[in-house]
Amino acid sequence: MASPVLACEGLTKRYGERLAVDGVGFHIGAGECYGLLGPNGAGKTTTISMICGLLDSDGGGVRVEDEPVTVRSLRAKGRIGYVPQDIALYLDLGARENLRFFGRLYGLKGAALDERIDAVLAIVGLSDRADERIERYSGGMKRRANIAAGLLHRPALLVLDEPTVGVDPQSRHAILETVRSLADDGMAVLYTTHYMEEAERLCDRLGIIDEGRLIAEGTRRELVANVGQRDRIRIGVAGDAAALAAGCRAIDPELELVVVGDGGIEVLATAGRRLLAPIIQAAETAAIEITGIEVIEPDLEAVFLHLTGKALRD
Ligand SMILES: Nc1ncnc2c1ncn2[C@@H]1O[C@H](COP(=O)(O)OP(=O)(O)O)[C@@H](O)[C@H]1O
Ligand SMILES: [Mg+2]
Repeated sequence: MASPVLACEGLTKRYGERLAVDGVGFHIGAGECYGLLGPNGAGKTTTISMICGLLDSDGGGVRVEDEPVTVRSLRAKGRIGYVPQDIALYLDLGARENLRFFGRLYGLKGAALDERIDAVLAIVGLSDRADERIERYSGGMKRRANIAAGLLHRPALLVLDEPTVGVDPQSRHAILETVRSLADDGMAVLYTTHYMEEAERLCDRLGIIDEGRLIAEGTRRELVANVGQRDRIRIGVAGDAAALAAGCRAIDPELELVVVGDGGIEVLATAGRRLLAPIIQAAETAAIEITGIEVIEPDLEAVFLHLTGKALRD
C-alpha cells in the first residue's frame, strides 16, 4: 500500500488531571474520507489540534506525507488545510477579501492568487455572493467560506471540525457534497462529527472516539458486523401474523422473532436480505397476504450503544 497521507500514533493530551486524548492513532490515505465520530467532550477537537500542529502533544506523533508535524514544523503544516469549528474570518469583509488575506499568508499572490480564489469560491458554491460582507451570510455560508479558506493552498489533507453544527439543511447538504467530491478528487479528509447519519453517509472509514480513546475503527459495515448487530426485518401482514411467525421460525434457527403483533411481525437476523425470498415463500404457503416488507440495517447508533452503553446523541 502507498504510504498514507496522514499517520498518527499514540496521541495523548492531558489537561491537569484529565486525560483528554489517550493513545489515539489512525491512518488516512489519499482519496479517503475518514470520520472521527464521538459525542461532545470525546476528544475530537483536541486530537485534530495535535494533528494540525496547533497543540503540542504529551505523547505520540503525527506524520503528513511522511514528514513529522509539530507546532514548529511550518512545511508539513503547509500541507494541511484546517477548517475550525468556530468561524475564523473577518466578518466586515467579503469572502473574496478574506480569501485574499489568507492567500497572502500562504505566500500566494497576483494572478495565481486570484485564480485560486475563484476556484475555491466555485468549489464551495459562493461565487455569486463573494463580495458581500461575511456578517450578512447565513451560518452555512460562513462555514462554506471557512472551508474555502482551508483549500486555498491545495492541501493534501483537509481537516474539518464539525462543519455542519448549527447549519441549515441546504448548506449542510452542500457541505457534505463538497467534502465528498474533494475526497473523490484525491484529497485525504479528516472529518469530525457527533452526527452518526453524517458519518454514515459521508465517510469511507470511521474511528469511534469516546472519553479520549479510539474504541473501534472500520467501515460502517465492519463496525456493525464486529459488534454482532443484526438486521431487523419488518413484515406487514393482512392475515394471521402468528401463522407467519411459525413459518419464519422454520426457515432459520438463528432468526429471532422480536414482535408478533396485529399488523405483522419483526425478526432479527444477520444478512437479513437473504431471508426475504424464503419469508415471502412461507407466507404464500400459508396463504397469508404480505402488505409490506423492509430490512432495516443496524446503524452506528446501535454500535455506539453496544460499545459504550450510552447513546451518542446529546
Ligand atoms: N483547553 C482545555 N483545558 C482543559 N480541558 C480541556 C481543554 N480543551 C478541552 N478540554 C477537555 O478535554 C476533553 C475533550 O475535549 P474536546 O477535544 O474539545 O472534545 P470534542 O471536540 O470531542 O467535543 C473535554 O473533557 C474537555 O472539557
Ligand atoms: Mg470539538
